[in-house]
Amino acid sequence: MKVIKTPRHLLSIADLTPWDLNRIIELAQYLKRRYYSGERVLNVLKGYTIALLFEKPSTRTRVSMELAAVQLGMYPIVLTWSETQLGRGEPIKDTARVLSRYVDLIAARVYRHENLLELARYSSVPVVNMLSDKEHPLQAIADMLTILEVKGRLKGLKLVFVGDGRSNVAHSLIIAAAMLGINMVVASPPQLSPDKDVLDKAYEFANASGARIEVVDDPQKAVEEADVVYTDVWVSMGEEEIAEKKRQLLQGYTVTKDLLARAKHDVVFMHCLPARRGEEVTDEVIEGPQSIVWLQAENRLHAQKAVLLWLLQPKIP
Ligand code: CP
Ligand code: NVA
Repeated sequence: MKVIKTPRHLLSIADLTPWDLNRIIELAQYLKRRYYSGERVLNVLKGYTIALLFEKPSTRTRVSMELAAVQLGMYPIVLTWSETQLGRGEPIKDTARVLSRYVDLIAARVYRHENLLELARYSSVPVVNMLSDKEHPLQAIADMLTILEVKGRLKGLKLVFVGDGRSNVAHSLIIAAAMLGINMVVASPPQLSPDKDVLDKAYEFANASGARIEVVDDPQKAVEEADVVYTDVWVSMGEEEIAEKKRQLLQGYTVTKDLLARAKHDVVFMHCLPARRGEEVTDEVIEGPQSIVWLQAENRLHAQKAVLLWLLQPKIP
């Protein structure tokens, strides 16, 4: 029988301390180096199992999490919400208790963040957020790894997020930037400013790291001196009913070549993907020389291996 103890979850990026986040990024760099030196599989989590539960679509997270698990020697089980009994109304709390008795870790992508909290409350194994309407912590970790790889440092950089400031991706990014001493500006229409609780957390971390966190509504001014310009889709999964309203609000927030030209000469462009060309970003920018979106997507794999190790804490040879 499993020993029930309080597991460490990763539901928000703020579940990590800045120290943890730095260690995870370092570990990801180390794992990536080992991967490229030909060591594709490190069987440090051999015998461990993970359930990957998806309530909404995914390409990057689905593939990179499954491969991250396999490359660490784990056995992954991918579950689509609607194909489990959850789809027929079995309570989340019952599912959590049952899955915890089979697997060592549960990763879930959900519509409502509250459902993730419920899953974690009743799970006796770690629960990882693979995206909810509130946060996307795995994306932010991989993004920090990517920025470090490209810029050689994190502290003191200027990261500007243009668009929907209360998107899950923006939320996790703001907190991560604040934790690591990156100066972050969110340029969004006032109606789409980041949630207050997210900003409060970010200001708390920023006090300790020295980061400046600002929310403004003028993208033209915001991108001046930017080292990184980042955007996400205007209409997130689950927002189909308010799609038109969001598109109207976000007119003028497209990342174009002209907008990027206002930033530093060596600015890089980032996007969590999937992208909607012609909406939040032009084709020219995403396909252009400043775009690092493919590296960003690749780094999901390496960052997630580090997260799995951080959560399960095996000894690494
Ligand atoms: N960025 C990201 O999470 O992509 P997917 O929705 O394809 O997983
Ligand atoms: N904000 C987007 C991110 C996709 C990875 C969404 O939730 O659809």
